[in-house]
Amino acid sequence: MNPKKDLLSIEYLGADEISQYLDLADNFLEVLARPIPIVPSLRGKTILTLFFEASTRTQISFSIAAKRLSADVVSFSQATSSVKKGETLLDTARNIEAMKVDGVVVRHSAPGAARFLAERIDAFVINAGDGAHEHPTQALLDLMTMRQHFGTLNKLKVLIIGDISHSRVARSNIYGLKTLGARVAICAPPTLIPLDIKELGVEVFYNLDDVIGDFDVAMALRIQLERQQSGLFPSVREYRTLYGLTKERVRRMKKKSVVMHPGPTNRGIEIDPDVADSEKSVILEQVKNGVALRMSVLFIHAGGKIE
Ligand code: CP
Repeated sequence: MNPKKDLLSIEYLGADEISQYLDLADNFLEVLARPIPIVPSLRGKTILTLFFEASTRTQISFSIAAKRLSADVVSFSQATSSVKKGETLLDTARNIEAMKVDGVVVRHSAPGAARFLAERIDAFVINAGDGAHEHPTQALLDLMTMRQHFGTLNKLKVLIIGDISHSRVARSNIYGLKTLGARVAICAPPTLIPLDIKELGVEVFYNLDDVIGDFDVAMALRIQLERQQSGLFPSVREYRTLYGLTKERVRRMKKKSVVMHPGPTNRGIEIDPDVADSEKSVILEQVKNGVALRMSVLFIHAGGKIE
């Protein structure tokens, strides 16, 4: 597999490669601010969004991004496809490729699904989330948002709060932030922290109140409610009490700090509504940047041309 063909993870990207995605995304923000926010860069290309799991932000923003670049977009929905009749991921992809698509944006519950496809089809593959493994474009748009606010990520202090064990967003962000020189810490109940987390070079905290005042960025992760049913934390109420981003906690953060969340949010659990909607929150900026960032990713991997 040619690593430049696909975007499967952040783990192996260097600082220059990450910066290339972010710099181009900044340029596309200017395109998106125009009265007619469309460029012809990918005219004649066809992009397939192949989502085997639910998505709002990622699927829609990839579709908008492709259309802003003048590509044709085809959306696959598992619910109405022949996957329902037992067709495998590979057969699905091969059949779609026979219809001549140039790129596939795939989300799947199995870690490694995007790589599996990338190694077997000629179209470029973008990982839009594979199980608990990685969600590279979410991390890139998060890095873009932090760079907008702070100018640089070097030595930026970022605290990721919540279910680190099951979070592809946390993993991709940790890789990207560390590569760009940020200081990354996590805070969660011990049952939601992977045993080998320190190998990723992050600090680990268990008491949010002790540390929240030290950070430039507090990134809350969605609590997957099924984890409570499997006994990984005692109750949603207790989780909010110990780890929720409340107004009282956020008030103790640094003056220029920001609050982030990849979405979808559980309001009143990992983040209170008055924090999610506050001036400190950059949640909708993350979503807005997502379109520009995904334009950048599609442009680079589809071999787009500046016209
Ligand atoms: N952040 C994110 O991946 O959101 P969606 O699941 O809505 O795509």
